[in-house]
Amino acid sequence: MKPHDHPVRILVVGEINVDFVFKGCHALPTPGKEVLADDFVMTPGSSSMICAMGLARLGNRVAFHGRLGSDASGKFCLQALRDAGVDVASLRPDGALRTGVTASLSTPQDRALVTFAGAIAELRAEEVRDEWLAAADHLHVSSYYLQKALRPGCRDLFARATAAGLSTSLDPGFDPEQRWESDLFDTLREVDVFLPNEQELQAITGRGDTREALALVQNGRTQTVVKRGRQGCTSLHQDQWLDVPAYSVDAVDSTGAGDSFDAGFLHAWLREMPLLDCMKWGNACGSLSTRGIGGTTAQASVSEALALVTGKS
Ligand SMILES: Nc1ncnc2c1ncn2[C@@H]1O[C@H](COP(=O)(O)OP(=O)(O)OP(=O)(O)O)[C@@H](O)[C@H]1O
Ligand SMILES: [Mg+2]
Repeated sequence: MKPHDHPVRILVVGEINVDFVFKGCHALPTPGKEVLADDFVMTPGSSSMICAMGLARLGNRVAFHGRLGSDASGKFCLQALRDAGVDVASLRPDGALRTGVTASLSTPQDRALVTFAGAIAELRAEEVRDEWLAAADHLHVSSYYLQKALRPGCRDLFARATAAGLSTSLDPGFDPEQRWESDLFDTLREVDVFLPNEQELQAITGRGDTREALALVQNGRTQTVVKRGRQGCTSLHQDQWLDVPAYSVDAVDSTGAGDSFDAGFLHAWLREMPLLDCMKWGNACGSLSTRGIGGTTAQASVSEALALVTGKS
């Protein structure tokens, strides 16, 4: 096991997106109507950015590559990554593109999302240079289905990373078209850690039972951990089921909890902690992120996560 300040270099390749979060909407809007919201934030919204910022918050060296426009949303995202200490040297705001945007409208009961993918659909695996891989120990990719141009080259990208000596991880995210095509299984052969949520894993495998679904994605290489919201997470390791409960926090907003979970899990996994501890780290960072509105406002530091994991808070 390696210490928390052990230097690990992580390359995150993925989508850039800003969230406009309208919280406490008095109702969800219907055509022709206007509703008021009690709170609002503009916040880094994409799974990849939230995970990258979560990893940086835990003290890791993180480099990010993705596509963005030179519009206000793009500038906002670039600055947010910089402020988090993420290396953005490869990011080139493109005047011909518009940065991805999501409007999130939430009431205490439910939420509605509208997304304009914009530049998200432009990122290609071939853009990732060998020297960026050579400068990293680990490659993480999120939002497999959302990134239409990245997806066909994703398996090769993971294979290149593996050949260059990196470990690899993938968070599939939701498939907005709900097709859940099976090319993912092929991609997983090049992936060390797979981090779907329960709904995604069930859709990917066509199995309504999570344990059955988990058993189905075993391929001899990939360690799959399924995120289960307030219930925590589950994995299968050497024919043993591991169920780790989430931590109880005053949850304000669970947007992006899964991406902060990824950051916590990977932080521990990259320091060679036992799987059970990695799952606790994932839960701690996921749970703590729900303290604030949006995905990045309340991400955990090492000491905050450690206090939950060790029970010494
Ligand atoms: N309400 C909550 N209270 C405590 N912990 C939570 C809560 N919601 C989520 N978590 C923690 O965060 C982790 C990830 O959340 P979740 O399962 O919702 O991921 P997700 O569906 O991928 O989320 P998103 O896609 O919004 O990032 C859970 O495994 C759990 O540890
Ligand atoms: Mg998720």
